[in-house]
Amino acid sequence: MAASFSVCRLRFRALGGIDKLCLGLEPQTQVRFTSTTSAIKAQTKNKTAKAAKESKTFQVIQEERREEAERSVLISCPPKINENKFLDYLSKHGTINKHFFYNSYGAYAVVEFSSRESIASLKESTNIPAVEHEAAVPFKSRLLSLKWPGSQSSNHPMPKLKEQSPPSINEITQLLSEKDTIDEQLHCLTETLQLTEENISLRFLVCSLLRDIAGAYFPECVIRPFGSSVNSFGKLGCDVDMILDLDGIYATSQKKGSGLSLEYQVKRGASERAVTQSILSVIGKCVDQFGPGCVGVQNILQARCPLVRFAHQPSGFQCDLTANNRVAMKSSELLFLYGQLDPRVRHLVFSVRCWARAHSITSSIPGAWITNFSLTVMVVFFLQQRNPPILPTLDRLKELAGPSDKCVIEGNDCTIVSDLSKITLQQNTDTLEKLLQEFLEFYGNFPFNKASINIRKGKEQSKPETTALYIQNPFETTLNISKNVNATQLERFVALCRESAWLLQQKEILKQSSDSPWGFTALLLPSVTSGAGVKSRRKRKLEPASSRIKNLLDSLKIKGGETVAKKGSANTRR
Ligand code: GTP
Ligand code: MG
Repeated sequence: MAASFSVCRLRFRALGGIDKLCLGLEPQTQVRFTSTTSAIKAQTKNKTAKAAKESKTFQVIQEERREEAERSVLISCPPKINENKFLDYLSKHGTINKHFFYNSYGAYAVVEFSSRESIASLKESTNIPAVEHEAAVPFKSRLLSLKWPGSQSSNHPMPKLKEQSPPSINEITQLLSEKDTIDEQLHCLTETLQLTEENISLRFLVCSLLRDIAGAYFPECVIRPFGSSVNSFGKLGCDVDMILDLDGIYATSQKKGSGLSLEYQVKRGASERAVTQSILSVIGKCVDQFGPGCVGVQNILQARCPLVRFAHQPSGFQCDLTANNRVAMKSSELLFLYGQLDPRVRHLVFSVRCWARAHSITSSIPGAWITNFSLTVMVVFFLQQRNPPILPTLDRLKELAGPSDKCVIEGNDCTIVSDLSKITLQQNTDTLEKLLQEFLEFYGNFPFNKASINIRKGKEQSKPETTALYIQNPFETTLNISKNVNATQLERFVALCRESAWLLQQKEILKQSSDSPWGFTALLLPSVTSGAGVKSRRKRKLEPASSRIKNLLDSLKIKGGETVAKKGSANTRR
């Protein structure tokens, strides 16, 4: 797009002993963003495999995944197939790097070849279906159907199908109840909910399939995932946020010589927003009419950030396609960066997101609820407030930036340090249990009426406007990312924080009862604050958690029951 976007490079070493990350990164991973694909390719090529792996940048990883996706196909399979025969058949077109099967209203296979020529060869031998009473749009995509003649069906067991859906709250509760400490529970929660390698590959493949449609108009375009698909906080089942990136087109048109030159004649729009809307409306129409497996396409072009929303049935993903949305991509990069600095960041974010979802504090339906993005920024802010702080301020990340880190997007300075080895983290040894407890107390008593949350300064600021919740947008600093949140939703959040803080304090008492949820699991029980939530119209049959726990404490007739009367009294920090 026309707006300036300077070369932006981010390089860092992860400083913690990170769990195996959902992005497939190893501990001590270095991350670097560069603006050009060629720079990334050259960078990757010149390294030995090991060195390359160790110094892989975030953008390199993304680029590799995108390239893998372009060499992949998605195949709908019959209920029973012989895996070896299937692979033998496909191998005629070239070497298969990897493959996996999954279930989404039927079995599907993702098959990645080692070269793109294999895709061309495979497509060459693939038929357009002969349909009776209907007509087919002859669009040759990489979403295929395997026809397996009945006579060749075998008794081979179906290959193992990889799970793509998140476990239910009941399953999570069961898993966590087997753990001995809250810290173990929170580790387990992240491991259970985080995106798997296969799920990430599928997300990139869906973007790549979409790119094939958009590529009919803009051959140099790329469709990139952003948001929780790449920011390391995604959970199984989260939507796929996509950006239609047309930078490649603008980049090639900036070659200016001193002599004669030619210029494309272009249609002009009233504004950048108008151009974005018109491009998205056309792509949306194509996705609707020609995109195999794409259903329920909605053009939501009047939104602050215009988008096309649709469901991709074969993957089961809800997709939001935007364009000209670089700040959001930069925010994803920033959250990813924070997630790498200390493993506790991801554990705390996963637990807070899960807890908020269980109580309908967040929702997949747009409305006056707090969003996952806002919640994540709230966790970052809280971790900046620890003594000593666990995370640096955004201003500090900017101070540490080198000249090549300079990044300005649409007039907003989005510069952050690229070499994270420049960041000195302070020794903070708080356990996850302590952090969760204090997060709940912190926000249960935060002066939301007068203060705003500001991760750039890492300090509360006075609220510039009277909205219920004010969280400064990290890069577009005059904006509030939680402007949509109303007073009722904020009150529910605060009340839930207080109640949950109290429940967490009852850990030892609850642990004595073998059939009672304790620790983080107790926080997932229905709460007294649920009434005004997203599910307000559905009456909850269960008693509120605090009443149930109170009853339990009464029935245990132990001294700890006294603490019931003290509910909330511990949370009077402010
Ligand atoms: P999920 O709920 O798991 O989808 O989390 P998410 O982080 O993907 O959130 P969402 O799909 O709502 O938004 C995608 C990305 O858009 C976020 O990660 C942010 O980078 C960005 N984003 C979302 N809301 C805002 C906002 O209000 N302001 C800005 N600047 N960016 C936003
Ligand atoms: Mg999302």
